[in-house]
Amino acid sequence: MDDFLGFPANSAIIVTGAASGIGEATAKLAARLGLAVSCWDLSAEGAVATAEAINKAGGRAIPFGLDVTDREAAQAAMAESYEAFGPIRSLAAVAGPPSFRPGDLNESVAATIDCARIPTEAWLKQEPEALRSAVYLSSVQGPRYGAGVQWYTVAKSAIDGYMRSIAAMRPGGLRANAVLPDWIQTPRTAAFIEKTGGAEWPANPMGRVGLPGDIANTILFLLSPAAHYVNGQSIIVDGGSQLRSLAWMRMAEASGSAAN
Ligand SMILES: NC(=O)c1ccc[n+]([C@@H]2O[C@H](COP(=O)([O-])OP(=O)(O)OC[C@H]3O[C@@H](n4cnc5c(N)ncnc54)[C@H](O)[C@@H]3O)[C@@H](O)[C@H]2O)c1
Repeated sequence: MDDFLGFPANSAIIVTGAASGIGEATAKLAARLGLAVSCWDLSAEGAVATAEAINKAGGRAIPFGLDVTDREAAQAAMAESYEAFGPIRSLAAVAGPPSFRPGDLNESVAATIDCARIPTEAWLKQEPEALRSAVYLSSVQGPRYGAGVQWYTVAKSAIDGYMRSIAAMRPGGLRANAVLPDWIQTPRTAAFIEKTGGAEWPANPMGRVGLPGDIANTILFLLSPAAHYVNGQSIIVDGGSQLRSLAWMRMAEASGSAAN
């Protein structure tokens, strides 16, 4: 059977934020595609649960409980991952602070950037031929402006800029891209989504809110050899939700056509 994505045998990946939501879905999909997975998360218990689920299903995973912005901890987790799996070709930098959390602009932007930068710098310490592809979790609230806290838009724009800096310099010849989701139903957003219309998200032309697997699919494609000519891109994955402005919704209501 033709393997379209084309990950080489014995590929390995680091997934940050692997205990929950998009990171968990990414770790589990990577394992189903045959990759060995190093699961990094603040929640040691959550990282263990994801790794156990992967191992029970016949995959290979090891858990690490760490704050990914802690340079020493990231370097130690990287070294242990290398020891267990050999060269780690892919990095999915998914972890980031919650967008709902109010915070000082400078501190929150720095914390968000460090969630991408510190794991990347630990990962880049491998020999160049190990490095193949990195994907960073940004948000549609980067290029747009979110309804939440100010720092989140600034921080996610900065994630895109950081990604482009890696993509342009291509240390070791690697590729880098970013994924920009709109609302995705995860433990982080579930209560808000429920309060504002539930999973059948009326503003989205797809008629539903995004799911973690929608984003995991895109992350794994971008990391894979199939995406070998895709570099430095910010890929919006939102089911087309950006197509409908508030004005569009009001006009659709006024003209009697369903907004969905
Ligand atoms: N859910 C959405 O609607 C949405 C939309 C756009 C972008 N995003 C981005 O996707 C990413 C994942 O979001 P999610 O909704 O899956 O969240 P989630 O809360 O379900 O999972 C995030 C995981 O990251 C871990 N984490 C956070 N900071 C960490 C740190 N410093 N070190 C280690 N682990 C850390 C948390 O413990 C948690 O397990 C975030 O970067 C978020 O900004 C989410």
